[in-house]
Amino acid sequence: MTTFNKKVAIAGATGTLGPFIVKALLDAGFQVTALSRTGRTNTQDRGTGKATGSLPSTVKSVQVDYTSEDSLIAALQGHDVVISNLPTMDLEPALIEASIKAGVKRYIPPEFGSNVSGNAKNAALPVFKDTKAKIQKYLKEREDQISYTLVVNGFFLDWGLEAGIVVNFKGDRPVRVFDGGNGKHSLSTRTDIGKATAGILLHPEETKNRAVYIYSTTVSQNEILDIARKVKPGFEPQLQHVTTEQTLKDSYAALEKGGESVGPAMLGFILTSCFSDDGYGNDWSGYSDNELLGITELSKADLEKLIASNA
Ligand SMILES: NC(=O)c1ccc[n+]([C@@H]2O[C@H](COP(=O)([O-])OP(=O)(O)OC[C@H]3O[C@@H](n4cnc5c(N)ncnc54)[C@H](OP(=O)(O)O)[C@@H]3O)[C@@H](O)[C@H]2O)c1
Repeated sequence: MTTFNKKVAIAGATGTLGPFIVKALLDAGFQVTALSRTGRTNTQDRGTGKATGSLPSTVKSVQVDYTSEDSLIAALQGHDVVISNLPTMDLEPALIEASIKAGVKRYIPPEFGSNVSGNAKNAALPVFKDTKAKIQKYLKEREDQISYTLVVNGFFLDWGLEAGIVVNFKGDRPVRVFDGGNGKHSLSTRTDIGKATAGILLHPEETKNRAVYIYSTTVSQNEILDIARKVKPGFEPQLQHVTTEQTLKDSYAALEKGGESVGPAMLGFILTSCFSDDGYGNDWSGYSDNELLGITELSKADLEKLIASNA
């Protein structure tokens, strides 16, 4: 039976999701090494630009050069698990190869979002095709040398509220509502994603070489908007009703244009994968790993509380 030692390395611990994974790992009794380009310990939500504090002092922060295999192998020696939480996928092959050479047993790549591995329509989207889907294949081809687990959690619910993407209480830009807004989609808080990631390390066999599916809630966009109206009386959300078909058409056109249009195009593809009702496999409430990984679905009251905390 596979078991892991207590030493876990995480690449990219200081950004939007990393601090939540670090906290959950420490809470579960793991020793955490944070790999960083600078060795910094201050944390920042790169999505909203907010400074969010610093890594706990028990975390060992190590500066690495991601382009140097020697630097990576030296940092990874003695660790059974590597979690990569880097925002780009170009560094993944080097980090995977260094992990193999350092004797790492389990690799968790930067998925943490859409159902790319279990849905061909997602895997074909430009935002995933040459990035997440490619690294999934890369890991599969090496599964006899290092095992892997992919974390599928849907859109970051708490972050999407803070950033005004799921509900925008500031009202300075509209929220995109897909295909009428009644379809249900699985979403997760970063606290639950952290917990599930730590849970993988406690269940090595059950999570080996596959995707795990977790969610904090599975709701429709209209249900979320109704809760927003309830918790903030008088609030009427500014909405942009869109179809999947038009969003994809616009996103491909923006991608073609290039330059500054690429970012919005990629966001269009990501939102499609998370909120479209046109077969993107974004409701896994019927077959999730919540129970295995210790995730409890938010009650209606807790969901209302979370939404209200952003009102
Ligand atoms: N489902 C969703 O709603 C959602 C939303 C956002 C992100 N995600 C996913 O979550 C994962 C992590 O994203 P994130 O937003 O947490 O990442 P992030 O905050 O943008 O970056 C994480 C850390 O990676 C390091 N880093 C940043 N740019 C880098 C670069 N070019 N090269 C090397 N290191 C770099 C930085 O640490 P140092 O400065 O310490 O090196 C940074 O703090 C990704 O898989 C992403 O796709 C999902």
